[in-house]
Amino acid sequence: PEPPQPMAWLGSAPNPQAMAGRHASHKGSFGDVAVVGGEGLAQRGLSMTGAAWLAALAALHGGAGRVMLALLDTSPPQGTAPWPEIMLRQPQSQDWKQATVVCGCGGGLAVRKWLPAILEQAPRLVLDADGLNAVAADASLQQLLARRASRRLGTVLTPHPLEAARLLQTGTPQVQASRIQAAARLAEQLQCTVVLKGSGSVIACPASFALDARACWVNPTGNARLATGGTGDVLAGLLGATWARMAAQGAASPAQPSLRLGTQAALEAVYRHGQAADLWPPSLPFSAGALARHFGACRAA
Ligand code: APR
Ligand code: MG
Repeated sequence: PEPPQPMAWLGSAPNPQAMAGRHASHKGSFGDVAVVGGEGLAQRGLSMTGAAWLAALAALHGGAGRVMLALLDTSPPQGTAPWPEIMLRQPQSQDWKQATVVCGCGGGLAVRKWLPAILEQAPRLVLDADGLNAVAADASLQQLLARRASRRLGTVLTPHPLEAARLLQTGTPQVQASRIQAAARLAEQLQCTVVLKGSGSVIACPASFALDARACWVNPTGNARLATGGTGDVLAGLLGATWARMAAQGAASPAQPSLRLGTQAALEAVYRHGQAADLWPPSLPFSAGALARHFGACRAA
């Protein structure tokens, strides 16, 4: 959106109550996001830290008050951290206990070591990429995941069709042939909110925490511009920031219990992620990093 004209600022009478609320806000009002991912395979000269950085960057620009990044790459970082606002932590610091956690982006096999504790303890959890692959490969992690809802711990899974197929023990063509059913089945099976990504991302939640009596939605925004590496990591980070903000601002209430908040955050983040791609100026080069930084322009003062 266009920034407001100076005259519009001068002309609108300030609302003292709203102003007091805004002045009183601080970084705690926007919530903490902890990203866990980014495996290093030093012996093979590989590092997957880019995916975790993208998620952290999207969380930062998506409006989180504070962003912590626990990289699973144990090789010494090359150069300096590119974004000083993002706090680099060790996974041992266990930031997942009090933050909205985004886990799995570029996590490789290393993420398996931390998943049992994260599944047990994270109050709000966005599970993506290798976090999902780890769960698909391990029945004990599936049990931990399915138990979270009964402990009022919210979880949003963000699989692309292949990741969903692994979780459902079926093939990608079967998932793609009935996307709504696949997302709904996964949501019931694991008692999680599910974002089945792709053209027309499907958001599904278990019937027990349906919003407005609905448990399934098809997102109307997004286009093939998003079919480039790293946009999934950006969605995970944006979703984490959206959920952290809703939780910090007390959006959970008897009418809006915490489990539903994850679904609400997923709907909002998936919509905004696609909308950003729809409104992208054709003259501006598109990349996942550029997309992540774009959300900064949208944060309300
Ligand atoms: N229309 C609308 N949205 C799309 C389209 C499309 N044609 N194509 C992709 N998207 C969106 C998806 O909905 C999702 O939000 O872009 C995002 C892509 O996310 P992922 O599939 O997770 O891709 P990403 O992780 O960024 O990169 C691909 O993931 O599994 C690995 O090996 C794979 O290296 C690859 C990487
Ligand atoms: Mg992905």
